[in-house]
Amino acid sequence: MPKILMSQHDSIRAVEWKDNHLVLLDQRKLPHNEQYVQLYSAEETADAIRNMVVRGAPAIGIAAAYGVVMAARKSYKQYPQDWRNRLEAEKDVLMNARPTAVNLMWALRRMCAALEGIQGDPEPVLLELAQRIHQDDIDDNYRMGELGSALIQPSHGVLTHCNTGSLATGGYGTALGVIRSAYSNGKIEHVYADETRPWWQGSRLTAWELVKDKIPAHLLCEGAAASLMRQGKVSWVIVGSDRIAANGDVANKIGTYSLAVNARYHGVRFMVVAPTSTIDMNTLTGNDIPIEERSQDEVLNVGNQRIAAMQAQAWNPAFDVTPAALVDALVTEKGVIERPNAAKMAALMAS
Ligand code: MRU
Repeated sequence: MPKILMSQHDSIRAVEWKDNHLVLLDQRKLPHNEQYVQLYSAEETADAIRNMVVRGAPAIGIAAAYGVVMAARKSYKQYPQDWRNRLEAEKDVLMNARPTAVNLMWALRRMCAALEGIQGDPEPVLLELAQRIHQDDIDDNYRMGELGSALIQPSHGVLTHCNTGSLATGGYGTALGVIRSAYSNGKIEHVYADETRPWWQGSRLTAWELVKDKIPAHLLCEGAAASLMRQGKVSWVIVGSDRIAANGDVANKIGTYSLAVNARYHGVRFMVVAPTSTIDMNTLTGNDIPIEERSQDEVLNVGNQRIAAMQAQAWNPAFDVTPAALVDALVTEKGVIERPNAAKMAALMAS
């Protein structure tokens, strides 16, 4: 198992490798039920990613890496001579589980590259790599937490969107990691969290993490964010990302773009926190990022309760793109870029 460093205000881990299989905290059941699912195959892992048992860009990459370990174990057992070729179908299932978060493809590419040199049983080598991906993510989050916290002047409040915490990563979080660090360092007193319709990552997950880790917070409807900024209650909007293009455009949970526009109008600064595994230098601009569209039912229903007229239809993009020009700071484990653009992104990735 990766070494898990738990600091203050940091008590949650949602992805674990235990007794030779993958254990996930089922995020569909939170906050009322803390249930864990036990996964033994790549297909089960892909289903868990598709159905949001596990979600958040880094967390789905980590889960997929463990999925490859289980696929290789099965393949080697059934076809000891030809196990590598027999893995292809399961790799594809994992690769196609969700389209926007590039951490999924990044983790799978690393795992696949490692397959090449393996002689004999592939499981020990692949498990070691999956655990390294997992632990590196946690370490990167601690580093980004400190780098992001250093940008914040002591202030009353910050606003965040979606869930970018321990549930969305190997642990600690990206944007929520910065918030954890800033709170621990006495830089902020209060967190405002968008409820994040239609899947309610804010209400169901972020508020749960903040309550559990004793960080004072209020939820608000996304529609209230501009008024919050106008009243001077927040100095920064702090969000994560699912994919950052080579020019610095940022794909993140739907609603992020309107926060960035509102932040610029109100003189509130806008911070994106993401490991370099979220940066996709092969995608030139935000226009080239594939945006997942999810079922209309997520908008038309709340839980099992239909709230819209039976004939009503809905548009449900899961992500939007914030132009780089609206980003004041991009925090990665390699360092901070102010006002990202193509040249600064290239220099960061080459460093
Ligand atoms: O649809 P989700 O819940 O997987 O979307 C998650 C987000 O948009 C997060 O902000 C992003 O993955 C960064 S999490 C560290």
